[in-house]
Amino acid sequence: MSVQSLPSPLLSVHGLEKSFGGLKAVQNVNFEVKPGEILGLIGPNGAGKTTCFNLITGFYAPSAGRVLFKGEDITGRRPYVIAQKGLVRSFQKTNVLKPLTVFENVLAGHYLSTRQSLLDTFFPRAHVRQAEQAARDSAALIIETMGLSKRINTPAYVLSCGELRLLEVSVALAA
Ligand SMILES: Nc1ncnc2c1ncn2[C@@H]1O[C@H](COP(=O)(O)OP(=O)(O)OP(=O)(O)O)[C@@H](O)[C@H]1O
Ligand SMILES: [Mg+2]
Repeated sequence: MSVQSLPSPLLSVHGLEKSFGGLKAVQNVNFEVKPGEILGLIGPNGAGKTTCFNLITGFYAPSAGRVLFKGEDITGRRPYVIAQKGLVRSFQKTNVLKPLTVFENVLAGHYLSTRQSLLDTFFPRAHVRQAEQAARDSAALIIETMGLSKRINTPAYVLSCGELRLLEVSVALAA
């Protein structure tokens, strides 16, 4: 394969570091994720995995290093700005809307792409109705892909821990 045909990375992390007082939680982390690639981050308790995700997604500002998403430097940007660019995370402690069903949670994940004005909420025009239908179709597809179809109308508080993880990834995919 020639160098030119290698896909450019979706996410690149260079020399990422985070100190909490005297504790170096993350030290010189470097990696790349290419389109279509699934990469695991493993390590013992307290190794700095969650801190790493918090740095990449803007929940913490790094002490050093850079994070590039689709070639753009997103180091230290606000979490909502990073999410709007399409880089979305789940949380170690599951963070879904417990009283809502699986479908409603995944639909809520589409909020960034279906946000509408107050007027559109009460008097939805054709393009708003189309966007809502597209979000519903997309939610159903994501739920099927994640193997949660049997739970589509089940409230989140009934789900097992494993199903909650799948739901959280579904919400992130929707966003
Ligand atoms: N906000 C914080 N303030 C101070 N220290 C922190 C903070 N967040 C994490 N740490 C410390 O940083 C280190 C790395 O923690 P982190 O939660 O990233 O580890 P982890 O690899 O996700 O662990 P686990 O496998 O238990 O989830 C730990 O020593 C932790 O106590
Ligand atoms: Mg962790």
